[in-house]
Amino acid sequence: MTDPLAFPLPRTCPFAPPDDYARLRAREPATRVVLPTGRPAWIVTRHADVRALLGSSDVSSDIRHPNFPAMGAGEQEAGARSRPFIRTDPPEHTKYRRLLVPELTVRRVRAMRPAVQGIADAALDAMLAGPPGADLVTAYANVVSTSTICELIGLPNEHIALFHEITRVSGGRNSNAAEVGAALGRLFQLLADLITLREKEPGTDLLSRLVTEHLLPGRVTRQELLSTIGITVIAGRETTTSMISLATLLLLTRPDLRAELTGDPDLMDGAVDELLRVMSVTDTIPLRVAARDLDVGGTVIPEGDGFIALLAAADHDPAAFPDPEKVDFRRDARHHLAFGYGIHVCVGQHLARLELAVALETLLRRVPTLRPAVPADEVPMNNASATFGLDSLPVTW
Ligand code: HEM
Repeated sequence: MTDPLAFPLPRTCPFAPPDDYARLRAREPATRVVLPTGRPAWIVTRHADVRALLGSSDVSSDIRHPNFPAMGAGEQEAGARSRPFIRTDPPEHTKYRRLLVPELTVRRVRAMRPAVQGIADAALDAMLAGPPGADLVTAYANVVSTSTICELIGLPNEHIALFHEITRVSGGRNSNAAEVGAALGRLFQLLADLITLREKEPGTDLLSRLVTEHLLPGRVTRQELLSTIGITVIAGRETTTSMISLATLLLLTRPDLRAELTGDPDLMDGAVDELLRVMSVTDTIPLRVAARDLDVGGTVIPEGDGFIALLAAADHDPAAFPDPEKVDFRRDARHHLAFGYGIHVCVGQHLARLELAVALETLLRRVPTLRPAVPADEVPMNNASATFGLDSLPVTW
C-alpha cells in the first residue's frame, strides 16, 4: 500500500484548487491523507458526495473528538477549550445558531446595504486620498469586511488592525496552541468588556439585543454569548477579505470579464456566486468525524475516522459544473458549496454576498484605471491559513 498523501495541498494558481484535486476526484471518491498533526484523515472530492455528507446526520463537527481532523494542533487544543459553535453538534449547536439566524435574514441584510455602501466609499476615499499605489488587501478588502462585521454586531470600528492580527494567528495553520489561545484571549477580553458596557447601557445593535433578550433573562451564559460573537468576528472577516481581494485580482487580470461586468450591472448577483464557486476559499473549513460507517460512492469511511469535505474540489467537479475552470458569469452557479451545506451552512452568506457585490461594484465604478502594480504571478498567496487568500495585492491607478 502506498503512503497516505500529505494534506493540505497548496494552491499554485489563486483562481483554481490545488492541482491534485482533479486527479484524485477522477480516481476515487475518498482518499486517505495524513495531516500536519500526524493524524490520518480522509478527503472527499466529488460534489454529490460532499453535499450528501454535509447534509447527513451521521457526521459530527465536535472538535473534542480525538480524531477530529484539525489542520493544526493549536486549532484543536484552543477550539476544545473555547468551543466555537461551528465545531459543535446539536442540540448545543442549535442553541447558538438560533441567536444569529434572525439577525442575518435576507431582509435584515438588505437593510444593511446603505451602511455597507458607506463603508466601501469611506475606505476608497481614504485610499484615493494618498498618492496612487496601495495594498488592496489592507486598504480596502480588510477594511470593508471588518467594518461590516463591526457594523453588524455593534463593535467600535477602531480595532480593524487588531481583528486582522487575531484572525491571522487564530486561523494560521502554523500557530501553536499558546499563540491561538493568546489571540482568542485578546478577542474575548475585548468582547467581554463590550458586553459589560451593553448590560449597563443597551443600544439598538445586535450585541445589545443579544444581551437584553438572551443574556440578562438567563437564556445563554456570558461564555456562550462571547463564543457566539467571537466566532462571528472570526468567520465573517477573513473569508470576505479573501473573496474581495481574489475577485479583484481576477477582474484586473481578465479585462474581458471586467468589461462584461461593468457593461451589464444586472450580471453582478450571478457573478458573485460564480466567483464564490471558482475561489471556494473555505475549502478546508468543513471538518467532520464519521459518527457511523459512511459509504461514500463505494468507499467506506469507518465510524470514528475524521474527514474533510473539500469545497473547492466539489465546486470544480465537472459532473456539477461543466467546464469548471472556465469563469462564466452567466452560468447558474447557485448550487456551489462555497458556503457549505446542511446544518452548519454559512449563517452569514447573505451578508457575504452583499459585501462582495457592493465592494466590487464600487471599486470598478470609482477607480476605472485600477491595475495591478506587480505581475499577477508575483502576488503573494496565503496557503498557510484556514481560509485561502492573498497576503497582499499591490495596485495602482
Ligand atoms: C465569502 C465569505 C464567506 C464564506 C466563503 C463562508 C464560508 C463558510 C462555510 C463553508 C461555513 C460552514 C463550515 C462547516 O460546515 O463546518 C461557514 C459557517 C459559518 N459562517 Fe461563513 N463564510 C463567509 C462569510 C461569513 C460572514 C460574513 C459571517 C458573519 C456575518 C459568517 C459567519 C459564519 C458562522 C457564524 C458560521 C458557523 C455556522 C454554523 O456552524 O452553524 N460567514 N461559513
